[in-house]
Amino acid sequence: MLFQFLLIFHVMSAMLWFGGTMSVPRRVRLALDSEVGAARAQLEGLAREGRMMAGAGFLVLFTGVSLVMVRGGFAGLDVRFHIGLTLTLIWIILGATVVRSTLEKLVQAAQGDAIAPGASDLGKRLSMFTGIQHALFTITTVLMLWRMG
Ligand code: HEM
Repeated sequence: MLFQFLLIFHVMSAMLWFGGTMSVPRRVRLALDSEVGAARAQLEGLAREGRMMAGAGFLVLFTGVSLVMVRGGFAGLDVRFHIGLTLTLIWIILGATVVRSTLEKLVQAAQGDAIAPGASDLGKRLSMFTGIQHALFTITTVLMLWRMG
């Protein structure tokens, strides 16, 4: 029963994280092509959502590790879950550091009368790192679902 509840929260928080972050690069590009007021509103909204997505990412990790504990711990656990945990830690850390700080810099870049020069490079940087996060997330999803032997 506990296992089933944890599994439901586990999968739902992963869905929330992926769905909520998928369109970030496109939305940043659209924001940077807009006039400064609209860009500011868009980017501030993205930064707010980013904080919620950090919560969803943490829930994926928390419920994942709890599932492992309910299953009897890490000893003897299939290697795919060890790899999945490592990849998940990497994309969560990327989100909490470089993605978050780049988004904050983008918000700052839209505070004046015009979008600050350099914002487009920040946008590219954000796209690159969210792309890496999504690749790691996708590999982990495959590892979660691939039953070997
Ligand atoms: C990108 C992140 C992740 C995604 C999308 C994800 C997705 C999933 C999915 C869809 C399942 C259901 C699989 C099934 O019942 O066939 C699952 C189960 C599970 N996940 Fe994850 N997961 C992620 C991260 C993690 C992490 C970091 C851990 C911790 C080690 C973890 C541990 C588990 C465990 C123990 C199960 C239950 C496997 C079983 O049925 O015995 N997951 N996950």
